[in-house]
Amino acid sequence: MKTYLVQPGSGIENMVFSEVPRPVLQPGKILIKMLSWSLNFRDLLVAGGHYGLGLPSPLTPVSDGVGEIVEANADLNGFKIGQRVAFSFFPDWQDGPINGKKIKRSLGGAEQGLLSEFIACSPSEIVGIPSFLTSEEAATLPCAALTAWNALFETSTNYPGKKILTMGCGGVSIFLIQFAKVEGCKVAAISRSTQHLDKLKKLGLDEGVNSSIDPKWGDTIRKSDFGEVDHAIELGGASSLPQTIKATRIGGEISLIGVLGGNDSEFNPVPIIMKSLRLQGIFVGSIDMFNRMNHAVEKNRIRPVIDKVFKFNDAHKAFAHMAKGNHFGKVCISV
Ligand SMILES: NC(=O)c1ccc[n+]([C@@H]2O[C@H](COP(=O)([O-])OP(=O)(O)OC[C@H]3O[C@@H](n4cnc5c(N)ncnc54)[C@H](OP(=O)(O)O)[C@@H]3O)[C@@H](O)[C@H]2O)c1
Repeated sequence: MKTYLVQPGSGIENMVFSEVPRPVLQPGKILIKMLSWSLNFRDLLVAGGHYGLGLPSPLTPVSDGVGEIVEANADLNGFKIGQRVAFSFFPDWQDGPINGKKIKRSLGGAEQGLLSEFIACSPSEIVGIPSFLTSEEAATLPCAALTAWNALFETSTNYPGKKILTMGCGGVSIFLIQFAKVEGCKVAAISRSTQHLDKLKKLGLDEGVNSSIDPKWGDTIRKSDFGEVDHAIELGGASSLPQTIKATRIGGEISLIGVLGGNDSEFNPVPIIMKSLRLQGIFVGSIDMFNRMNHAVEKNRIRPVIDKVFKFNDAHKAFAHMAKGNHFGKVCISV
């Protein structure tokens, strides 16, 4: 079968397309024929050597994918041959609060990823997908959507009228807007592009500020009709956190999810104390959360936004497209 392999640290541009033996099904395992994948910023970090040491090398990249069960050497746990399923980013985080043991294995990181024609796994590591979604759409759910879901509904309480701030037009941010609007929340976003903000408004965004022409966007949002934010989603990291804190109300909360702006800036934590903010790290989510999210996606008919789909043979082009950073929504690969 065909698979992609990369040496972490060598960069995604040095990923190779290889022929390897198809997995032999050990007892307790099932075989999935892969149909679609979606890419995350993390896949670039892993390939570039910016995602910790001691990763397998060579590594098959990509954490997010959907496939069809084609063979089983195990009890199927309620799944059926022919069923389309998605993989859990953390195969061992079934339920309950996060701990070190549950997140030791992560696909396309400490564990081999999914960018192969076939994957053998245990039935406990997969979830059924909402039936109305295409395979490409469902492949966007395991990391970006689940992270947004976890921040909004699992580690926080959502309520109609709650004011939420998000950043940019990538996977996490768009799912956040979609999920939050279904619950009747108000959402503001910053983006480096006015065109992106216009597109986000079509998805229900209430307030948008172009951060590339307004570096004091935190104050701008706070003083606007939108007003102070109850719950901010921090995707930029240390460089944007000071403005995020300015936008957030006293006693509000910030979910720390991403570091798109890098980690080089100095950060003063005093305003977090003075505003009595709750700062909560979010790391994707459990299989239980994934199932709850899928139920909401199915019930509310939420369709993931896809920027572009590439062919399996063109995975390099898909990564290069994402690395340019101009996408709106998810970049996918499909057989
Ligand atoms: N903690 C977790 O479990 C978890 C899970 C998923 C993702 N993440 C992290 O969350 C972040 C977003 O992930 P994603 O998958 O949504 O990324 P993405 O699809 O690549 O989208 C990122 C978007 O953010 C905006 N952006 C780019 N550079 C920025 C910067 N320096 N400051 C602020 N915004 C910037 C851009 O939108 P505009 O062009 O409109 O500005 C861009 O389209 C990444 O850091 C990722 O590693 C964390």
